[in-house]
Amino acid sequence: MKPKILAFAGSTRTDSFNKKLVQIAATGASEAGADVTVIDLRDFQMPLYDGDLEQNEGLPQNVQRLKELMSSQQGFLIAAPEYNSSITGVLKNTIDWTSRQLENNTLNCYTGKVAGIMSASPGGLGGLRGMVHVRAILENMGVMVIPEQIAVSAAHEAFDADNSLKDKKTEEKVKKIGANLTRILAKLSS
Ligand code: FNR
Repeated sequence: MKPKILAFAGSTRTDSFNKKLVQIAATGASEAGADVTVIDLRDFQMPLYDGDLEQNEGLPQNVQRLKELMSSQQGFLIAAPEYNSSITGVLKNTIDWTSRQLENNTLNCYTGKVAGIMSASPGGLGGLRGMVHVRAILENMGVMVIPEQIAVSAAHEAFDADNSLKDKKTEEKVKKIGANLTRILAKLSS
């Protein structure tokens, strides 16, 4: 059975470097035999998490939609931009909402999953500091995050017009994150 992987970036920006990056990792996973679904969090817009809203109205429809999608997957590929040395609000808000349970349902879309993470930034560290937080958050939720990760620095100069990375060695490393995640998931299910 093909491992199912959901791939997304923690940015909604149209020209997001992280959207480009996660697409490359997704290609690596597909080439290694995974069934990959790439989504744009812009298509799952949700309000800022608000406990009163949740109590009064339940989980917003886009949260339910994303939770159902996540629950049907074994793995995640996440390209996480760094804001102020940490995780973006978009990604944290998405994780916070989707970590909440559906009423009368224990649908937990994180525990027991495996993830590969990466980041891209115009800065010199490529988002490395933010990834430390992303890894910790996911691991605390019971997600096994694979050791390989990549931070692409000078991201504003790193991509070609076709959204591939100019440095082919770096591109192979990004693809390898997707491929390694696929192999681990295949082993876990065998
Ligand atoms: C940034 N950016 C940024 N970059 C970085 O390497 N370290 C940082 O701490 C920050 N902090 C930060 C805060 C805020 C509020 C913004 C808007 C931006 C720059 C960031 O990496 C850049 O905007 C990327 O282009 C964001 O990723 P996407 O949207 O291109 O995927």
